[in-house]
Amino acid sequence: MTLTICLIPGDGIGQEVIPAAARVLEALKADIAFTHAEAGWDCFQKYGDALPAVTIQAIEAAHWALFGATSSPSTKVAGYASPVLTMRKRFDLYANLRPTLSLPIVVAGGREGVDLLIVRENTEGMYSGRERREGDTAIAERVITVRASERIARVAFEHAMRRRKQVTIVHKANVLKETDGLFRDACLRIAAEFPGVVVNELLIDACAMWLVKDPARFDVIVTTNLFGDILSDEAAGLIGGLGVAPSANVGAGTVAYYEPVHGSAPDIAGRGIANPLGAILSAAMLLNDAGLPDQAARVTQAVQQSLRDGILPRDLGGEASTDQVTAAVLARC
Ligand code: NAI
Ligand code: MG
Repeated sequence: MTLTICLIPGDGIGQEVIPAAARVLEALKADIAFTHAEAGWDCFQKYGDALPAVTIQAIEAAHWALFGATSSPSTKVAGYASPVLTMRKRFDLYANLRPTLSLPIVVAGGREGVDLLIVRENTEGMYSGRERREGDTAIAERVITVRASERIARVAFEHAMRRRKQVTIVHKANVLKETDGLFRDACLRIAAEFPGVVVNELLIDACAMWLVKDPARFDVIVTTNLFGDILSDEAAGLIGGLGVAPSANVGAGTVAYYEPVHGSAPDIAGRGIANPLGAILSAAMLLNDAGLPDQAARVTQAVQQSLRDGILPRDLGGEASTDQVTAAVLARC
């Protein structure tokens, strides 16, 4: 059966790294078809909608989407809503999976022996969208539910069963006694269903420290939305930076989308120097979940080999352009 992937480059370097990932997928000569859709800030400027209905329909029709990045302004803009947050809520993509694996080469700041998976709750917490102003006071509601906490915990434990069978529950229940107390209790309840998995817990601040000091101690980390967002960028810093970090957004439905962890990188956009490996590795995660694990392995091995062969983009200390890195990977597929 043909695998259809909806390509949504979005803004900034998304326009560079998603076509790069598509070229690698094409090189596999597998039964893969592409559709194309728009989303993001430029799309909002054009159509007044950052995630138009035609894009939602295209994602639903394909079931699988590869997304680049979006430029979300740091100030409120009437009518604009981040398309990634909208997609996650709309398709109930409640699990954000962010693996961090040491590169096979030495890069500045890169660490050996890192092989961890951050399982981030993707639909609520600090990103519930319940923010308001009351005079000189701004209030954000941090919504944590039993349903969302239990299901994200289950995803974490199921992944741990296929990995090194360790889960670290990360929270701040000592201060956020209601919200993170509920999250912690839910995770511990699910933990009881997985007696073969070793369970630890850490407060978010201590976790941030241990991630720098001894990242090899972690297998699966399960946490709430904002903490997972921050920890996963920190984790990317252990393996050379955001340019190599992939992610998946999955739920119980028939739609899933995959995206590099990085944003639109306006500081380097349009120069042909963005690292496409995060997007390419996200495409490999997609292939794996879509039932093409052999093709996924070909892509990840090609990425590893091109790094070993010294084809390094600028953020990893080399000089290779987006095109050169992409060409090196697809030649090794
Ligand atoms: P960013 O991830 O775009 O960039 C952070 C730093 O990492 C920059 O110095 C950038 O040049 C570098 N970088 C990121 N990806 C790279 C790559 N593939 N190759 C080489 N260098 C790379 O985060 P920033 O600057 O905080 O945000 C920029 C915009 O992106 C904002 O509008 C933000 O809202 C948006 N954003 C979107 C995300 C998404 O679409 N899921 C995620 C994070 C940020
Ligand atoms: Mg982030």
